[in-house]
Amino acid sequence: MQVTASAPGKIILFGEHAVVYGKPAIAVAVDRRAYVTVQNREDEQIYVEVPDLEVSGYLNLEENEVKLETGDKTKKGILIYMLKSIERIHAGSGMNIHVDLNVPIGAGLGSSAAITVATIAAVSKFNGKNLSLEETARKAHEVELEVQGAASPIDTTLSTYGGIIYLSKNADALVPLEVNMEMPLVVGYTSKRGNTGELVESVRKRRENYPDALNLILDSVEALTNNAKEAILQNDEKRFGELMNINHGLLDAMGVNTAELSRMVYAAREAGAKGSKITGAGGGGSIIAYCPGKTEEVMEELNTFEKAFNANVSEEGVKIH
Ligand code: PMV
Repeated sequence: MQVTASAPGKIILFGEHAVVYGKPAIAVAVDRRAYVTVQNREDEQIYVEVPDLEVSGYLNLEENEVKLETGDKTKKGILIYMLKSIERIHAGSGMNIHVDLNVPIGAGLGSSAAITVATIAAVSKFNGKNLSLEETARKAHEVELEVQGAASPIDTTLSTYGGIIYLSKNADALVPLEVNMEMPLVVGYTSKRGNTGELVESVRKRRENYPDALNLILDSVEALTNNAKEAILQNDEKRFGELMNINHGLLDAMGVNTAELSRMVYAAREAGAKGSKITGAGGGGSIIAYCPGKTEEVMEELNTFEKAFNANVSEEGVKIH
């Protein structure tokens, strides 16, 4: 018996940080996926290997513990998401689990949500249960909340449903957007990871020190995110790109930019991107460039920094293979 499930990573297009203050955001699922394959094994143990991260080990549900066989502590984190996912499915039997990960970790691309959603889907199916998408998304969000302490439902929703979502004010609704616009994105990735918690805290402090200015910035992000939603629905590439550039400027004003990210953002524009900005928490991590007709050029330019890859919107969310 063998079951494989996969789920996509995500990119935040507009509204990161402002979303923490109840402002809207827009995010897409991308065609970089986590593949989780479950097979039975003779004994009752649960063994996991993630060759892409050079990590493997045993998940002990009773003792709520991960015992590493290979790999370091940072990468152990990924196995904790899997442990918490399997706990929620009450899986009793022994399993060998193999993960192929095409989503880089620590880049703000939702690798933990992709693994969590794919694990929940694969292990449930392996146990003869077909979870609904709602249940899958809910359980995955619970896992992220438990492991991280705080998490918006953006990542797990996109990994489950795919497509593009508009997260409305106060996060009370995740609205899927029907989109006809081509969305060729290039991600420029740096291995210097920003710490999301610390960056969120730094914006909070800046807002405390300069409330009038920061509140206006957050209101501006809200306005441009709503404009971007319209630009997407109206297939207006130029406006969409310009709004990305404005959002980048405001993220800089919030204090989450770095010299390196800035250089990458400008290099992408010079290579022909219609828009480019930080994506996710900033302070390191990734930038995205929107580059209709210029994907190759922008990729070549961003590859001179550290690493770049092409990412397209994935309409496909979690999937059993
Ligand atoms: O870098 P990521 O994907 O963890 O994105 C963080 C997005 C923030 O708005 C900065 C925080 C949040 O919880 O929404």
